[in-house]
Amino acid sequence: MVTGSSGLIGSEIAVFFARQGWQVHGVDNNQRAVFFGQDGDTRWNQVRLQSVIPKFVHHEVDIRDRERIRELIEAERPDAIVHAAAQPSHDRAQAIPFDDFDTNATGTLNLLEANRRSCPESPFILMSSNKVYGDGPNRIALVEHERRWDFADEPFLDGISETFPIDQCLHSLFGVSKTAADLLVQEYGRYFGMPTCCLRGGCLTGPNHSGVELHGFLSYLVRCNLESREYRVLGYGGKQVRDNIHSRDVASFIWEFVQAPRSAAVYNIGGGRENSCSILEAFSKVGSITGREQLWTYVEENRIGDHICYYSNLAKAREHYPSWEITVPLDNALQEIVGAWRNRLGQA
Ligand SMILES: NC(=O)c1ccc[n+]([C@@H]2O[C@H](COP(=O)([O-])OP(=O)(O)OC[C@H]3O[C@@H](n4cnc5c(N)ncnc54)[C@H](O)[C@@H]3O)[C@@H](O)[C@H]2O)c1
Repeated sequence: MVTGSSGLIGSEIAVFFARQGWQVHGVDNNQRAVFFGQDGDTRWNQVRLQSVIPKFVHHEVDIRDRERIRELIEAERPDAIVHAAAQPSHDRAQAIPFDDFDTNATGTLNLLEANRRSCPESPFILMSSNKVYGDGPNRIALVEHERRWDFADEPFLDGISETFPIDQCLHSLFGVSKTAADLLVQEYGRYFGMPTCCLRGGCLTGPNHSGVELHGFLSYLVRCNLESREYRVLGYGGKQVRDNIHSRDVASFIWEFVQAPRSAAVYNIGGGRENSCSILEAFSKVGSITGREQLWTYVEENRIGDHICYYSNLAKAREHYPSWEITVPLDNALQEIVGAWRNRLGQA
């Protein structure tokens, strides 16, 4: 069972597991269109899934609806639950604090408790976020290069690991609701001994994102490029660094975890250093694929608590699951995103 099945990650998980012969149940109520308006609508992706996965079952259920979630999980008793439904935006949360917390924290609790009561042996994987680390990474010494920031010193040259502190820093309300969910998932592992996993995502990307200004960095950036929309860079000179992982590589990690689950596991999951880029670097990369110059404006004020430089240390994920590897380099991911947007915008 996949929550958020019409979104970027949920849809990739659905396709990946269906290809391995699994029957996939998706849970999504197109809440992304409520959070972000028409451009965030994910209904098209639900329709795509229903056409590419013959036995896909869509459940139009809100994860905040405790009773319906309870009944659904009791009825289906899924062999694994991948929880990718969320209010996913750092900045959007402050305007909708109750919707944000009810979705991210309480929605996760609804699923975990239903999981515990009906199928406690089934692995539960949460798509958590690197925002659990709040703005702590901004205290790490940095070097400023011409087009990007980077970490200056060991032990951060290979990125941020799971031992990085998560409290006594600024998170955004989104960061807090995701941290609450992350701790709940760990607790169901430790307290109840269930096979649970938190994946603290860097930038997750891929062709099936409904990117909007408030969420889906590369998808939105590519859309702006193709439609000659102005992209607003918010602070840090446009040199802020994100590590980008293709949704397929997230799906393959989850597949490995489901084959050999652990309890209360926590991994950082992102593109790592090799697949990181700054916004300025992303402009050049996308421009060289599309042949179009990026229109952009600069706003001095950065997003509150935004990371200046963040990339994931993938050592623990690789050590625990040695068959897993990043397979899609950033340039290839961008090619796919450009191709997908050209199709969706009728430019192909
Ligand atoms: N995309 C990223 O860069 C990124 C980074 C770190 C963590 N994550 C996390 O990964 C997960 C998936 O992200 P994504 O990029 O695929 O997001 P997405 O917005 O593309 O997909 C989420 C889906 O969940 C659905 N949804 C939202 N609220 C719901 C509710 N109450 N009930 C049922 N469905 C609901 C939405 O309609 C949407 O289709 C989220 O938990 C997000 O916080 C994403």
